[in-house]
Amino acid sequence: MERYLLKDDIWWVGVIDWDVRDFHGYETPRGTTYNAYLIVDEKTTLVDGVRAGYGPEVLRRISGCCEPASVDYLVVNHVEPDHSGALPWLVERLAPEKVFCTSRAKDALVLLYGEEAIAPWNIEVVGTGDEISLGAHTLTFLEVPMLHWPDSMLTYVKEAKVLLANDGFGQHLATSKRFADEVDIDVVMDEAAKYYGNILMPFGNQVQKLVKTVGELGLEFDVIAPSHGVIWRTPEDIARIIQSYVDWSSFKAEPSVALIFDTMWYSTEKMTRAIEDGVAQEGVPCSVFRLSRTPLAEAARAVQTHRAVLVGTPTLNNGMLPSVGAFMTYIKGLRPKERLVGAYGSYGWGGGGVKQVDAALRDLKLEVIDPLEYKYVPTDADLAACEEYGRAVARRVKEWGS
Ligand code: FEO
Repeated sequence: MERYLLKDDIWWVGVIDWDVRDFHGYETPRGTTYNAYLIVDEKTTLVDGVRAGYGPEVLRRISGCCEPASVDYLVVNHVEPDHSGALPWLVERLAPEKVFCTSRAKDALVLLYGEEAIAPWNIEVVGTGDEISLGAHTLTFLEVPMLHWPDSMLTYVKEAKVLLANDGFGQHLATSKRFADEVDIDVVMDEAAKYYGNILMPFGNQVQKLVKTVGELGLEFDVIAPSHGVIWRTPEDIARIIQSYVDWSSFKAEPSVALIFDTMWYSTEKMTRAIEDGVAQEGVPCSVFRLSRTPLAEAARAVQTHRAVLVGTPTLNNGMLPSVGAFMTYIKGLRPKERLVGAYGSYGWGGGGVKQVDAALRDLKLEVIDPLEYKYVPTDADLAACEEYGRAVARRVKEWGS
C-alpha cells in the first residue's frame, strides 16, 4: 500500500477514514485520517496507532517501508481509542521490544484494554525532556497534559526537526493528499479552526504554555505532523498554523456577530432577522445559524470566530428549546472566553426559555448583555427594538475590536 515520506526515513503509515461523519458528537462531513508514523532506523519506531479495525492497513503500509518484524519500538503519544484502538492487534503482530508513553498513558492503557493485554508490552515511561536514540534519529518527548487528555504527549524528531504532534494542529479532513500544500489551504484552515474550536478551545492556557515552552527550548520545525488530516511542511504553512494557535488560544475573534437560534412558530426567527438587520446597519458582519439545521461543531466554531454571540430561543414547556439546550450544554464544556453574549427570544404565556439561556450564559463568566424577549409575536415596534438591540451589540463589538 502507498506510504508517504515526510523526511529522512520518516514515513506516514496511517489510514484515511472517508466514512466517519461523527466524532463523539463532533460532526465530520469531510471524514478524517488517523496518522501513524514510522521512523526507519537502527531502532525502527512506530509512533502512534490508529482506530480499531484498521491495524491490517497500517501493517501493509509498514511492509512497504521495512519488514514489520524489524519494528523495535512503539511510541504512544495519546491513548484515545482513535489512536490506540488498533494497538493491541498491532503490538501482537509487531512484537516491539519496548513501548514508550507517559505514566498517565500507561495507567489509561491498562484501564482501556486490561492488565492482561498490556502486561507483555514492556512499557517504558517517559516524560518531558527524555530522549531516546534510534540511531540516526533522536526522539525527544514533551508531555502536554490536557492537550487534550491527561496522558497526551508530543514526540520531536530532533535531527529531522519533525514534530509528531498527535491531536495538536490536526483537522478532520480525509483526502488522498498528505500535505497541506497539496490541497486547498482555505479548506484545511477551515477544518483546522473547527478542530481547534471543538477539541482544544477549553485548553487555551495549556496551548499558550506549550508555545512558550517550545520557544524556550528553541525547537525548530521543518515538518509538523498531526495525527488527523494533512501535514504541515512549508515554512509558510507552519508559520500560519502556529500563529493561528496563538490567536485561537488567546480567544482573538473577528469583530463580528453570530446569531445562533432556533424557532417554533417563527417569532424568534423574526427577532433574529431584525437583530441581523440592526447589526448590518452598523457595518458589522453577522452570521446566522439555525440550530435545527446546523451541526453543533459548526455552531461551536462560530463561537470561536465571532466576538459576539447572541443565542435565541422560544419557550417550550417553561424552558429553552431542546436544540438550544444541546448547544448550551456543548458550549459550557468548551469554556469560551472573551466573548460578548446575550439571550433573546419569544414565549407564549409563562416564559422561561430566554431566562434559562441568560442564566447559562452568565454561568460562562462572559460579558453578558441584558436579554430581550417578546410575548407571542413581535410587533413592528418590537422588531424596531430588535434592530436597535442589533445596532447596540454591533457598536460594542466595534469598540472591542479584534
Ligand atoms: Fe485524536 Fe484525542 O484523539
